[in-house]
Amino acid sequence: MITDEEFLRIATYVKQRYGIDLGQKKVIMNGRLENYVKAGGWGNYNSFMDAVEKDKSGSLEKDLLNMLTTNYTYFMREFEHFEFFKNQVLPWARRRAEKTKDLRIWCGAASTGEEPYMIAMVIRDFFGLDHQSWDTKVLATDLSTRALQQAKAGVYNEEQLKNMPEQWKRHFFKKTGQGTFTVTDELKDEVLFRQFNLMSPFPFKKKMHTIFLRNVMIYFDGATKHELLRKVYDFLEPGGYLFIGMTETVDRNQVPFQMIQPSIFRKKEG
Ligand SMILES: C[S@@+](CC[C@H](N)C(=O)[O-])C[C@H]1O[C@@H](n2cnc3c(N)ncnc32)[C@H](O)[C@@H]1O
Repeated sequence: MITDEEFLRIATYVKQRYGIDLGQKKVIMNGRLENYVKAGGWGNYNSFMDAVEKDKSGSLEKDLLNMLTTNYTYFMREFEHFEFFKNQVLPWARRRAEKTKDLRIWCGAASTGEEPYMIAMVIRDFFGLDHQSWDTKVLATDLSTRALQQAKAGVYNEEQLKNMPEQWKRHFFKKTGQGTFTVTDELKDEVLFRQFNLMSPFPFKKKMHTIFLRNVMIYFDGATKHELLRKVYDFLEPGGYLFIGMTETVDRNQVPFQMIQPSIFRKKEG
């Protein structure tokens, strides 16, 4: 079992670099790391962390993050958001980007791909044949390389697709095995997957029309969340939208968002 001191060392490391607050999650941390640390022959968690800190290749750190992030997600999650996105956000964004024809949508906690593929399907539906003259690629980032690998592969089983409208299933997935379906290459081309830590400075040259940051800030403490929301606000186009998880909140005393619905926010139109 992990000691209090080892727990604190790992929790501090992960919080400082990645914002993830594991403060009360000692048993969970132990459960997720125990077999890996044993199998690697480190003997205890302190030796493992010494190795993580010394490892220049970053591969141990990658494993640590893959074990400590929670990647739970599913297709159709909080579906009302996608209806709002199609009916309100995309018509606005199309007007706003009329001249350049580049739509800039970012999904900042993309996990295993369900959410960015949903966004891409909605965009495809909305633009119809017009999509050929637009750059509508969705940027999809996450911290976990393991989740991103699955996202890029785009392989899901029948159960995972059970609530998906038939029409989308037919258009955007092909049957590739007994009970398995793979996202079509055409839809994969509409999503650009990259590893990105939300705690890092945002590297974008242009501002976003919409940012999806759903069900990730629950892992951060108040100060971390506030700082992140400030960056998000700065990197939205005037009039741009932010979607957060339906059980999450934004403190509007700290960030000047306009609330459209409890989990949908908008930057003032300039
Ligand atoms: C519970 S999933 C949410 C997935 C999806 N947005 C949804 O709502 O279904 C949270 C995701 O946030 C990612 N995450 C946690 N901390 C992060 C950070 N600092 N930077 C980027 N992604 C992070 C995790 O790897 C995980 O895949």
